[in-house]
Amino acid sequence: MGILVTGGAGFIGSHTCIELLNDGNEIIVVDNFSNSNPESLNRVCRITGKSIKIYHLDLLDLESLEEVFLVNQIEAVIHFAGLKAVGESVQDSLKYYKNNIATTIIICELMQKYSVKNLVFSSSATVYGLPDTVPISEGFPLKAINPYGRTKLMIEEILQDLYISDNEWSITILRYFNPIGAHESGMIGEDPSGTPNNLMPYITKVAVGQLNVLNIFGNDYPTIDGTGVRDYIHVVDLAIGHVLALDKTLKSTGVKIYNLGTGKGYSVLEVVSAFESATGVKIPIKITNPRPGDAAICYADPKKAEKELNWKAKKGIIEMCEDSWRWQSRNPDGFKINEESENPRLIYSEDFLIPNN
Ligand code: UFG
Repeated sequence: MGILVTGGAGFIGSHTCIELLNDGNEIIVVDNFSNSNPESLNRVCRITGKSIKIYHLDLLDLESLEEVFLVNQIEAVIHFAGLKAVGESVQDSLKYYKNNIATTIIICELMQKYSVKNLVFSSSATVYGLPDTVPISEGFPLKAINPYGRTKLMIEEILQDLYISDNEWSITILRYFNPIGAHESGMIGEDPSGTPNNLMPYITKVAVGQLNVLNIFGNDYPTIDGTGVRDYIHVVDLAIGHVLALDKTLKSTGVKIYNLGTGKGYSVLEVVSAFESATGVKIPIKITNPRPGDAAICYADPKKAEKELNWKAKKGIIEMCEDSWRWQSRNPDGFKINEESENPRLIYSEDFLIPNN
């Protein structure tokens, strides 16, 4: 039996693949590589010494996706695939509703048809909107403030309704706070296309010399130093959280919801300073206007995950910065492969990479 991982080539997906493989799971990845690179999976195989079955297809392609369910014995699905840029979701909301919501419905329909009723879903702290107080626990009021956030919230509601309609389902919804860091090998990490929207990839692009200055979006928030405070979590801790959530999902039915965060907030200036002391690289900064829709402070109450999943984030902010930097400095152009050098993808392509188009 295997675990189907949608969006397994992405930042959180690829790190979770490593932890799933290390835990002895067989995995099948479905990815359209629209915002990721198959090279990340090649590296996952190199890091773990294990193989992955990879389908290059779009989740909206029902027929091809059904083939995956027909050919493989699937025990559970971890559903990462989706679009995640807040600004883009405002500009092109239909794209977000189609890509995030329609794909989730398609995958759930197939899961139901093939009696694969175990699902772990990637949600986000974005479903809390602009919280009135911190730390944020799972019972806080939910309110999305942009189309991306609404897709996450709507999917959470769809999944709750799905369970009500069929009690055989076991669904675990994981609300991520701010994942940063990278695998300690420096071989995989976050590889955004274009100019990064998020803080840590922006900092590492400045550090590597591809961007000149970090724009800090406002310094007048009611926080320790006026800059926004977030709960940064190491992506490997987050990935381990998925393995534990999967175990729990396989053991009982129902819908369970967990925050995955550290419970500690850092301001933008504190992150910059941690990065500088972890790496020795100075980050030039410029204070600019606040970004519309940004909360002043957002950090998790992670006690529920600790109690019920036996999960706790272990890695601190310095390790997050060191690992982000190891990845970026060794891979200044991300997963882009120099065609003249040995193409490591060949090692795995015949056996494991099965592009269908
Ligand atoms: N920031 C800057 N400059 C930048 C980028 C970010 O000052 O160039 C600041 C932001 O204002 C914020 C903090 O750094 O205070 C973190 O910003 P990110 O964009 O890294 O993260 P967000 O908390 O805004 O967004 C993240 C995810 C979203 C998710 C949201 C809420 O990227 O997908 O958390 O959970 F919706």
